[in-house]
Amino acid sequence: MPAKLNLHLTVGPRGEDGYHELATVFHAVGLYDELTASVDDELSVTVHGEGADTVPLDGGNLAVRAVELLAAETGNDPGVSLHLDKRIPVAGGCAGGSADAAAALVACATLWDAELSREDLAVLGARLGSDVPFALHGGTALGTGRGEQLTPVLGHGSYAWVLALADGGLSTPAVYGELDRQRAVGPPAVAGDPAGTLAALRTGDPVALGRALSNDLQEPAFALRPALRRVVLTGRELGALGGVVSGSGPTVALLARSPEHATALAAALAAEDLCRSVRVAEGPVPGARVVG
Ligand code: C5P
Repeated sequence: MPAKLNLHLTVGPRGEDGYHELATVFHAVGLYDELTASVDDELSVTVHGEGADTVPLDGGNLAVRAVELLAAETGNDPGVSLHLDKRIPVAGGCAGGSADAAAALVACATLWDAELSREDLAVLGARLGSDVPFALHGGTALGTGRGEQLTPVLGHGSYAWVLALADGGLSTPAVYGELDRQRAVGPPAVAGDPAGTLAALRTGDPVALGRALSNDLQEPAFALRPALRRVVLTGRELGALGGVVSGSGPTVALLARSPEHATALAAALAAEDLCRSVRVAEGPVPGARVVG
């Protein structure tokens, strides 16, 4: 299951339920976590790869919660052993936990022969986290509500991304909290509506898309992690068509002109020593899938 970027993210005011109304353009890119699931006596999870030592192995793990939820909904025994091979940065703004939950839903629905459509799984997924429905959906989609109400975005072509991974994660509630704090003391920096991003995607124009990248959570993420501003600015100086913090960060997405340009840009950025590591990935790609 793939990582997600937010190509556009407008955050409205905080609602009474504590969540903010969003208008966001999700985009799934080819940086994948892999989940293996097999029937076992008990529900357990093991984790290898990117940030494995920081991933919870109990009910704090969204994949574990997904198995419990689906088991309760379908009347199956939740005894499943899960193994996660992680490449998506943990708490990185790329919805890695949501991708793992989406994969657990798809895998267990298959294991248990549950007659559930992707729509049914998305409704369950929304109870686990706002980004889980998109992790099932994949591609490029407009997300509204908490981000769980999806409309597919039809577009042309594919895009070459460079992802700058940071040391450590950022807490999503902390970044939303910083946005509320900034808005309480000054004029809000608002990303506006996603029309420019959608128009760029429709025509498949990477230059226009690079210019349109925007995220209301970027300034709050910069406030909590000042080094990120340098990553975005340096990426642009090195020739990226645009750069933006993904979701609540700290991963920064830089748009390249082509896959070859992405490779060169990634090498140049890595040489600047501003981030922990650098990846290249193409998007859009499909959502969580069973592969064998
Ligand atoms: O839905 P999810 O569990 O991913 O959300 C994590 C946290 O992010 C929420 O508890 C809330 O603080 C914040 N959030 C928000 N508005 C949204 C989505 C998330 O304030 N639309």
